[in-house]
Amino acid sequence: MPKSILISRGLSPEAVGLIPKDVIVDFNSHEHSLGRQDLLARLRGKQGLICQITDAIDDEVLATPGLQVVSNVAVGYNNIDVTAARRRGVVVTNTPDVLTETTADFAWALLMAAARRVVEADRYVRSGEWKTWQWDLLWGLDVYAKTLGVLGFGRIGRAIARRARGFGMRVLYHDTVRATPAVERELDATYVDMPTLLAESDFVTLHVLLSPETRHLIDEASLRSMKRTAVLVNAARGPIVDEAALARALGEGWIAAAGLDVFEEEPKIYPGLVALTNVVLAPHIASASLDTRIAMSALAVKNCLAVLEGKPPLTPV
Ligand code: DGY
Repeated sequence: MPKSILISRGLSPEAVGLIPKDVIVDFNSHEHSLGRQDLLARLRGKQGLICQITDAIDDEVLATPGLQVVSNVAVGYNNIDVTAARRRGVVVTNTPDVLTETTADFAWALLMAAARRVVEADRYVRSGEWKTWQWDLLWGLDVYAKTLGVLGFGRIGRAIARRARGFGMRVLYHDTVRATPAVERELDATYVDMPTLLAESDFVTLHVLLSPETRHLIDEASLRSMKRTAVLVNAARGPIVDEAALARALGEGWIAAAGLDVFEEEPKIYPGLVALTNVVLAPHIASASLDTRIAMSALAVKNCLAVLEGKPPLTPV
């Protein structure tokens, strides 16, 4: 019997081309996710599912008879019930590594844009308001030689820290597991507890996985404990930050600014945030470069094919 795969949503053609001709492919080439009923119906009889973070892969989906592998085209996998998958013997894979540098670049772009008010400046110029050079126009915050706090010191957190050396920054980090002395030395990063990181950092950037423990990790109390001049960057997952509290923090000046690529209920954005000028907003695009999207798609396909061929996946969750 030929194997068959459902591709739930857009994937680079280069990656689809890696699938051997004898594998049956059902590809949702539309821009939008399949609705739940469509996903369940089209998954029937398939052994592999290549899906995106917008697909909720719960126990009902995982119960599809014959399903062997769910290959997420993302490093984050909070859209998948991994415990249920394990119980049902369905392999789950993700796409780490290939997006690390691209995501770190973008988190830095948000950091710089929020600190130096790049989006406000762009709007100001386009609006025609700019009439003359002005001494006190759009003053921002310095980045060079400041303190960077990295919350979550996995691959992306470390890539962020590596870039900070070029900015002569003091780097603090916090994670549930402390990095080895060699890594701390290489990145010139100091392990501190979370209250210290929040209190001492000029820039706090989030790189933890979303889990019940990290939901609203940045809440009102955390925001109030940060410097009034601090900038918060979130390119991890929206629910790590309590958006309502963040909107108050930015509006009332508990912190200076924020750069956000992710939101609690994407694509909805907490209304209080949209009205603020001291927050830079992006539509969950941190890993969205051409090369990285192709690499993520290819890795997802290879993971799926490996499992269907009875081999270990390249990057299991
Ligand atoms: C990821 O990989 O988890 C991103 O958020 C989606 O590209």
